Amino acid sequence: MPEMRQSSLVVVANRLPIDDGAAPDGACEWRRSPGGLVSALHPLLRHTPATWVGWAGGTGPAPAVPDVDGVRMHTVPLSGDDLRDHYEGFANATLWPLYHDSVEQPEHHRRWWEAYQRVNQRFAEATAQVAEPGAVVWVQDYHLQLVPGLLRTLRPDLRIGFFLHVPFPPPELFMQLPRRAELLRGMLGADLVGFQRAQAAHNFAQLVAKVLELPATDRRIAVDDRVVRIGAFPVSIDTAEMAALAARPDVADRARRLRHDLGSPEQVILSVDRMDYTKGIEQRLKAYSELLAAGHVKVRDTVLVQVAVPSRERVGQYQILRERVEREVGRINGEFGRVGEPAIHYLTQPFDRAELAALYRVADVMAVTPLRDGMNLVAKEYVAARVDDTGALLLSEFAGAAAELPQAYLVNPHDLEGLKQGLLSALRAGPEDVGARIRAMRSHLHRYDIRAWARSYLSALDDSGSLLTRLGAA
Ligand code: ADP
Ligand code: G6P
Repeated sequence: MPEMRQSSLVVVANRLPIDDGAAPDGACEWRRSPGGLVSALHPLLRHTPATWVGWAGGTGPAPAVPDVDGVRMHTVPLSGDDLRDHYEGFANATLWPLYHDSVEQPEHHRRWWEAYQRVNQRFAEATAQVAEPGAVVWVQDYHLQLVPGLLRTLRPDLRIGFFLHVPFPPPELFMQLPRRAELLRGMLGADLVGFQRAQAAHNFAQLVAKVLELPATDRRIAVDDRVVRIGAFPVSIDTAEMAALAARPDVADRARRLRHDLGSPEQVILSVDRMDYTKGIEQRLKAYSELLAAGHVKVRDTVLVQVAVPSRERVGQYQILRERVEREVGRINGEFGRVGEPAIHYLTQPFDRAELAALYRVADVMAVTPLRDGMNLVAKEYVAARVDDTGALLLSEFAGAAAELPQAYLVNPHDLEGLKQGLLSALRAGPEDVGARIRAMRSHLHRYDIRAWARSYLSALDDSGSLLTRLGAA
């Protein structure tokens, strides 16, 4: 057996940052997968000798995946049962809805918990193999909350970080989890537990004090003979990269072409989401439909482009959502569209970064209205892409991004009238107001970009500073 290559930085996430798709010639090709976690980490690791431990999608033996931009891909296999009970079950039908305010009902099954433990153990063992002595290991997200604890048992020499990309719920919701103590203990295996928002760190500290009876503040928790630090590290994007992409002449041309193909409307509204019930897609469609019905918005002047890439397609709640969204899009187009002039342009395809940038450039209003979202990188990507300082961002108060982008047109997506008013305000805003807001948001994102995020997290995690020195040189 060949000797396992080891790295000084190991990222552990449920998903590898790639999907297998068909290349134009029909061959199998690995390409970057959509989703916030991948978008956040991809630009950072490109410059660092690192290993990414994750699942390549599919079931059965782990496929060999080539390095991506110099990052080694170490695949962890999932069986059909693991896929059903760990990924679709405990991760995405128990934790995901519960962590997002229970906007859909979480389900609890003992078999799912067993699979969650088994898969977390497999990830911990794979990580222990590829981490060199004293390595920094950065575990990501809600699928792998037990990994820090399991890994500490296997490899006490490692420096272990854990970062949760999704919201961490208030105690009254988290307390519903039958295995709440084990989940908290798993996270406490890390040296640093990071969240998107200070409120989440506060929720975590309260729960640790209540459930595990450990002394906890919003910054530090004493566990055995160790101190675990906790804190907020709002994730960001590669702002400069998105701005450079959006400024490319071919992307600007593509945006002009798109506007023409959309019928040269006065205003384009864009939404880009994974097809997920947390994203508020149905509420947004309802608001848009009521504005059309009342004549506040006219199809010839204004079009809505809704990109909704299918996600977690075998989970019942996602299937139901897709059917409802598609029925509603059909109804709205049937009622308000004309031949060659649909009210909503509905697209379910994954796009490459240049096409996304062109879509952002064509959008006069970007509607990002999740019911709850850890951060929402789409909102940040849109701001970064508006290199000519135009464009109105309509943003939900319940997206993590709202804390950093108060200049957006903020709305409560649960309030239908408020949502309609917000959309109209964004559509009718004058260029000076729009310009001042987007400039302030762009300048914030140039300062707090993905590198600033990684720097602040990793400098808190790795006090020797050696990892940061290498990242800084990148
Ligand atoms: P989530 O993490 O819940 O999916 P985010 O908004 O934080 O939501 O991140 C979504 C990421 O996926 C963004 O980087 C966005 O550009 C990308 N993405 C969303 N839809 C598509 C699509 N149709 N094609 C390619 N990338 C997409
Ligand atoms: C969110 C989660 C990520 C996840 C992504 C895509 O961003 O925080 O952990 O990878 O959604 O979801 P998927 O189920 O396709 O991995």
